[in-house]
Amino acid sequence: MEVKDIVFMNKGDGENSYVKSAGLTLKVIAKTQPMVQKAVQSLFKGTHSAPLQVVNVADLGCALGPQPLESMSIVIESIVEKCGELGCEMPEIQFHLNDLAGNDFNTLFKGLSVVQEKYKNVSWFAMGAPGSFHGRLFPRNSMHLVHSCYSVHWLSKAPKITSEEGLPLNKGKIYMSKTSPPAVKEAYLSQFEEDFSSVLRFRSPELAPDGRMVLILNGRQSADPTEKDICYLWDLLAEALSYLVSEGLIDEEKLDSFNVPYYNPSQEEVERVIDKEGSFTTEFSDTVVLEIGGKNAWSDPGLRIKGYRCFSEPVLSHQFGEEVMDKLFDKAEEILAEDYKQGKEATKNISIVVVLKKKTNQTWT
Ligand SMILES: C[S@@+](CC[C@H](N)C(=O)[O-])C[C@H]1O[C@@H](n2cnc3c(N)ncnc32)[C@H](O)[C@@H]1O
Repeated sequence: MEVKDIVFMNKGDGENSYVKSAGLTLKVIAKTQPMVQKAVQSLFKGTHSAPLQVVNVADLGCALGPQPLESMSIVIESIVEKCGELGCEMPEIQFHLNDLAGNDFNTLFKGLSVVQEKYKNVSWFAMGAPGSFHGRLFPRNSMHLVHSCYSVHWLSKAPKITSEEGLPLNKGKIYMSKTSPPAVKEAYLSQFEEDFSSVLRFRSPELAPDGRMVLILNGRQSADPTEKDICYLWDLLAEALSYLVSEGLIDEEKLDSFNVPYYNPSQEEVERVIDKEGSFTTEFSDTVVLEIGGKNAWSDPGLRIKGYRCFSEPVLSHQFGEEVMDKLFDKAEEILAEDYKQGKEATKNISIVVVLKKKTNQTWT
């Protein structure tokens, strides 16, 4: 099965759902709000001969729950504020909510009533736009703002990490780790470069002249792709999976051959791909750090495991089976609780934020 068929966030609004574990991403959205506001408002200073009548906004990998609704609210409020300042008429706003077909669009759409309640006097519309952001999604020159939070670091496929003889090179791990050989890091970086470049290449014809993209990726702070704060989650899950192997609940071969289709880039890696791909100029770029330990976003191990589970469970359960998921996350919580006592857990959440403007000399055939 392809990654696009198995990546989605936990559905519905139950205990382990993505909807119920919105806390951390909402903090990321709040922290990056000023950059989104600025990008939205800069749409009103471009070369448009008349004020925009309709603003088309895409949210790539929107998932479901309070986060995409909060992102919509930020866009609406930014436009209201700018139009108030300029004394111009409010445009209509059309949101195109993109995700893979496995996303729980029904729960997402049910939540739209929250936005409806808040902005009764604004003319806005929303539609689902299913498909992969690694391919074309929208008509040419149609999008004024493309926004994406915590999505475009998902890869189109897991990197192939085997020796020439076809043997797994990342045994006992499911992501890059301190002990992974250099080939693992190279394979991940190469897959990220290919995929992120395709996100840019496919968006560039879709953006209207002067259109902006605001991309927020889960990244890392240093040049080292195995820095603790980003590998911690996957090392923890690999340790819990190894325990399930030792209990005979899953095959060792299944663990050794599995790698998550996910990459935490550094700001420098993101900028390098943007420059090389060439369709956009970078108006803003930054690394944003959130403290998540102790009294911050995840004050207890149980909460933190729910935060991990809601986005990692679908890919893990596809590989290892739904029946072992409770045991896996129970074991992970046990290890995490021990790490909390010893102060060994990750304490930072890192985001890379870029605001991009489509280059004006682009022509499309
Ligand atoms: C962690 S969620 C982020 C959701 C939301 N933007 C937020 O801020 O909470 C990542 C989302 O990206 C989606 N995704 C991953 N790969 C994708 C792809 N190739 N095309 C479209 N969506 C994708 C996943 O299905 C998931 O819903």
